[in-house]
Amino acid sequence: MPHSWWRTGTVYQIYPRSFQDSDGDGVGDLEGVRRRLDYLVWLGVDAIWLSPFYPSPMQDFGYDVSDYCDVDPLFGSLARFDALVGEAHAKGLKIIIDFVPNHTSNAHPWFLASKSARSDPKRDWYLWRDPAPNGGPPNNWFSHFGGGAWSWDEQTQQYYLHSFLPEQPDLNWRNPQVRAAMHDVLRFWLRRGVDGFRVDVISHIVKDAAFRDNPANPGWTGEGPDIIRLAQTYSSDQPEVHDVIAEMRRVVDEFDDRLLIGEIYLPIERLVAYYGKELQGVHLPFNFQLLDARWNAAEIGRLIEKYEAALPQGAWPNWVLSNHDRPRIAARVGSAQARIATMLLLTLRGTPTLYYGDEIGIGHVDIPADRIQDPWAKREPDVGVGRDPSRTPMQWDAGQFAGFSTREPWLPLTPDRETRNVATMRDDDSSILALTRKLLHYRRERAPLNKGEWRLLCSSDDILAYERVSGEERAFVALNFCSEPRSCALPTTAGATITISTHGGRCGEAVGTVLCFRRDEGVLLSSP
Ligand code: GLC
Ligand code: MG
Repeated sequence: MPHSWWRTGTVYQIYPRSFQDSDGDGVGDLEGVRRRLDYLVWLGVDAIWLSPFYPSPMQDFGYDVSDYCDVDPLFGSLARFDALVGEAHAKGLKIIIDFVPNHTSNAHPWFLASKSARSDPKRDWYLWRDPAPNGGPPNNWFSHFGGGAWSWDEQTQQYYLHSFLPEQPDLNWRNPQVRAAMHDVLRFWLRRGVDGFRVDVISHIVKDAAFRDNPANPGWTGEGPDIIRLAQTYSSDQPEVHDVIAEMRRVVDEFDDRLLIGEIYLPIERLVAYYGKELQGVHLPFNFQLLDARWNAAEIGRLIEKYEAALPQGAWPNWVLSNHDRPRIAARVGSAQARIATMLLLTLRGTPTLYYGDEIGIGHVDIPADRIQDPWAKREPDVGVGRDPSRTPMQWDAGQFAGFSTREPWLPLTPDRETRNVATMRDDDSSILALTRKLLHYRRERAPLNKGEWRLLCSSDDILAYERVSGEERAFVALNFCSEPRSCALPTTAGATITISTHGGRCGEAVGTVLCFRRDEGVLLSSP
């Protein structure tokens, strides 16, 4: 298997609303991203994944698309997009865009046609069903954003399915015309030069043909969002989805060296099926296990081993710590352990995805009630599902709006923005930004890190240590998950020297058979 860019490289996720505003409306845009490309080159990432920028009523901030082949004026224009791709490529950066196949916006012309009449040629492009015999919804499925997954259409007297908001009707992927139309969307962007797609909720796009009721979730404790009350037995991860994905893959393979990433929240055994038969599914089924893992060295050691063991022959791993839907890593484990997490992410085997703002350690941001934006938070206000705290603007400098915009941004900045920003942290060798950059550059240069094998050396409650090996070359990583100093016997590292410490300093220090850590410290060692 050749080591193409998406294997050795690092992906950086940008939520376009929150990266850089260029026109003073308080919302980030594509021109803003273009202006910050040099920063990404400096940082040392290889590819950018852009969350949606398509025309949209923004009910779900762009994940409700009303035209798959254009750019929302809020974010720019196709010309701005082309400029961004052109300049990114000139600087050696790849561009991955978000593809949202499960649902459109209810303002999409396809849905407007579909709901206009039962006889409309596009009626079957969406999932319309008669009421149950009692007049209620066709089955018991819940929406991911609270409440039932079916909405009633008065005019045509049927229900339509929406796995998310009522404003996000689900497409019918069993209909060949839908598949053909969506394949043309992929080709539209591939021809414009995009290097790949991150495919939104790809495991949901095919539903049970008979729309059977979902069974109760045996693990439900009576709390939490509606969606977890039932097991998603019939509403997601259907066997037929794999053929649909293989077809998508063939479209992407009409072009050279392009990438398909799938957003899939499933247990490992079911997740790895998304590599597809003979690896003809998505190249990278997003591996989200670190998002939920208990922050304990032994637990994480087990999880990595289990994942490595479950990978099909030839399948390439990948790792994610944060994204726009989940709490940021520093919000979850605190700012000291966020460094451990960064070292972990950037030294495991497989493609890392780094979420914008994690490199400056943005933690939890309180969102005052009157500034809540997330539709999920608004629909299920009592269950703590709000995603706004993970979507706050990138902080570039100590200026009034952190260099993000010239006016109050759409979501608040962090209270510590005067010090937690790129300009202040980039020259501080002990900052998480400096650490992230060192790791990214080191990873890129060193074969053990960007393609070597992974082997566990030791995992206790507090210490996780592993080695990465490529031919004769070796790197060791040892992480202290505890906020006390620790030491650990590691015979294999004898004679190695410290290359990077999570807390700066120690570079060049030789280690014996016992490795000493400061509190919350991780070290990367290279063999003599
Ligand atoms: C995915 C996206 C999320 C969005 C949802 C519906 O989970 O990551 O942000 O709300 O799909 O499109
Ligand atoms: Mg703007």
